[in-house]
Amino acid sequence: MNIHIAPSLLSADFSDLKNEVINIEKAGATHLHLDVMDGAFVPNITFGKDVISAIRKHTKLIFDIHMMVENPERYIKDMVDAGANSITIHAESTKHLDRAINLIKSYGVKACVALNPATPISVVENVAYLLDMILVMSVNPGFGGQKFIPQALDKIQKLRELYPDIDIEVDGGINDKTAKLAKTAGANVLVAGSYVFGGDYKQRIESLK
Ligand code: DX5
Ligand code: ZN
Repeated sequence: MNIHIAPSLLSADFSDLKNEVINIEKAGATHLHLDVMDGAFVPNITFGKDVISAIRKHTKLIFDIHMMVENPERYIKDMVDAGANSITIHAESTKHLDRAINLIKSYGVKACVALNPATPISVVENVAYLLDMILVMSVNPGFGGQKFIPQALDKIQKLRELYPDIDIEVDGGINDKTAKLAKTAGANVLVAGSYVFGGDYKQRIESLK
């Protein structure tokens, strides 16, 4: 499977988002990971549809929206209208995962489910056939710059064995060293925030591939 690098906007300079997305695209990224946080599902608040649609005008990057929001069903249409290409919801954030996934798919965008570090892979067993991607959190969601939780590797490996054709994304604490481990375990979409934005964008993206 091809390896994709998805820089996370969370670590960009929020006072200069337009130039940040232009520069990250020039540096060779194909995806942009956008962390939408509501201050309820996670302790932090970030941005929503208006910021996403404002930067959408300046880039052709694939918008990979990671919703860390309670009852994300309420905002799926907003994310689609703002320019989402794929939408990830957390298994822990809704009582009706199957319904929410089908809602995402009804708009013709890719559907993905994220699993917190403590969530077992069995929660996606009955919906996997609907999914384009599964996101394994390798930190507890809410903040950039946290340390990679190595137990995520075992989860990635099991998911890859069960679902050879689904994209497996890993998010949290990815750098040149942990990227290698995650790829070996079977991840093919790597999110990286503080690592990519903390140095030369092009060189850091290359080092993750
Ligand atoms: C954390 C977010 C991540 C975050 C990753 O809740 O989901 O996407 O930006 O940041 P790093 O790569 O710095 O761990
Ligand atoms: Zn994320």
